[in-house]
Amino acid sequence: MQSCLPGVGRSLCLACRQFTPVNKNLSRLQPFACILATQQHRKMASAKIGMANRLKGTEKNIWVEFGKLAAEHQALNLGQGFPDFKPPQHIIDEVVKAVNSDNALLAQYARSYGHPRLVNVLSKLYGPIMNHTINPMTDITVCVGAYGVLFCAVQGLVNPGDEVIIVEPYFDCYEPMAMVAGATPVFVPIRPSKTGSMSSADWKLDPEELASKFNSKTKAIVINNPNNPIGKVFQKDELQVIADLCIKHDVICIADEVYEWLIYDNCKHVKIASLPGMWDRTVTIGSGGKTFSATGWKLGWAIGPQKLIQPMQILHQNCIYTSPTPLQEAVAAGLEYELDLKDKNQLDDCYLYSLAKETQPKRDRLAAMLEDIGMEVTMPEGGYFLMADISKLKDKFQVPDDGSSDPYDYKFVRWMTETKKLAAIPPSAFYSKDHKNLGENFLRFCFIKDNETLRKASIVFKEWKESL
Ligand SMILES: Cc1ncc(COP(=O)(O)O)c(C=O)c1O
Repeated sequence: MQSCLPGVGRSLCLACRQFTPVNKNLSRLQPFACILATQQHRKMASAKIGMANRLKGTEKNIWVEFGKLAAEHQALNLGQGFPDFKPPQHIIDEVVKAVNSDNALLAQYARSYGHPRLVNVLSKLYGPIMNHTINPMTDITVCVGAYGVLFCAVQGLVNPGDEVIIVEPYFDCYEPMAMVAGATPVFVPIRPSKTGSMSSADWKLDPEELASKFNSKTKAIVINNPNNPIGKVFQKDELQVIADLCIKHDVICIADEVYEWLIYDNCKHVKIASLPGMWDRTVTIGSGGKTFSATGWKLGWAIGPQKLIQPMQILHQNCIYTSPTPLQEAVAAGLEYELDLKDKNQLDDCYLYSLAKETQPKRDRLAAMLEDIGMEVTMPEGGYFLMADISKLKDKFQVPDDGSSDPYDYKFVRWMTETKKLAAIPPSAFYSKDHKNLGENFLRFCFIKDNETLRKASIVFKEWKESL
């Protein structure tokens, strides 16, 4: 090969990626050394050295922007969905035990599709709830959080050109995940059937509107039950409408049920997979982080028929491979403990039920604070969050325009975080571009917080009310 030094004859051009003749006058550091180094070459190089096209349109992330804002202003964070108290002591003890174990294998890679102890207890816990005998080896896959499982489901099951129906408001990652898979997201909103203070049960899907979104290109529908951010717990008849459409159009249902245990006011959570004909077409997603108030543990699972779980396992084995073994061991031991209490009907002691009992008064306390200042709360039947309508506050004060083209709720949250040192999340982030107006008169608050955090919030609201 000839010398590639500029001026001597040949050099590696970063645009061509070839050794090509060079202009003698070009510097040795000139990255586009080729004599053909035209504008077009530079464009080629700048397009190559950068982001893949499939990420276009997915650059913005609500958690990154508003997490940073809350930290910058040292605001009380009622925005992002995490408890600020410790997980139950028994799973903490179990993870310490796993990390300290004489069993050296607990520090090594776990089985790709889920640590056997974990998938075994998941099959025992969920079999009766789903009315199905679950094969722990073929019908379950474990991944890094429910996020990871959602990614495996969308990437493993959806083809470019497919349509994916997303019920909105939706957990924000559904839309970019569908886009990155090359699919077209198709949105259908749950709408409030009245105005003012209400229950999340008053937010409903219009069956006709929903039906109009299904066609021959529809591969999957993503539902979130209980819904983040509304807190709606879909009732059996509402799920049946979705199930009937899935069966009629031969569509997969991806059911994100990470808040399945956080159900309030004696409401009942029904798994869509348990409805007749739905096991065969449903991927049900759960989260160890949400179940045990340990969101940083990032352990999630999907349960469904082998024909849907296997593609997810294939994607996972090649892209992620496995999830942390000690955390899987601890969550497995934790679920065994809770399942034992559940089977003995000691529900007051069982975390799967007691957490909701402890959280309901927190929900009520925060809702009362928000109502007191003039927001109108949608009382959630489930989950971590509540939606508060801020329309009436517009009569009392004006949020200064921050000059951005963002929806009103973004401006309101930025202003509240900066001036009141209180952070929430703007729910229009959970709506598609064309439906952002449906969310922009609300704020999303997270109420699964320590009582001390809620006490601090009450001081903020009291001072705020006095200033009105
Ligand atoms: C509806 C919903 N699904 C999935 C997730 C992600 O769960 P994980 O922390 O297990 O990845 C969240 C987290 O906030 C969520 O709200």
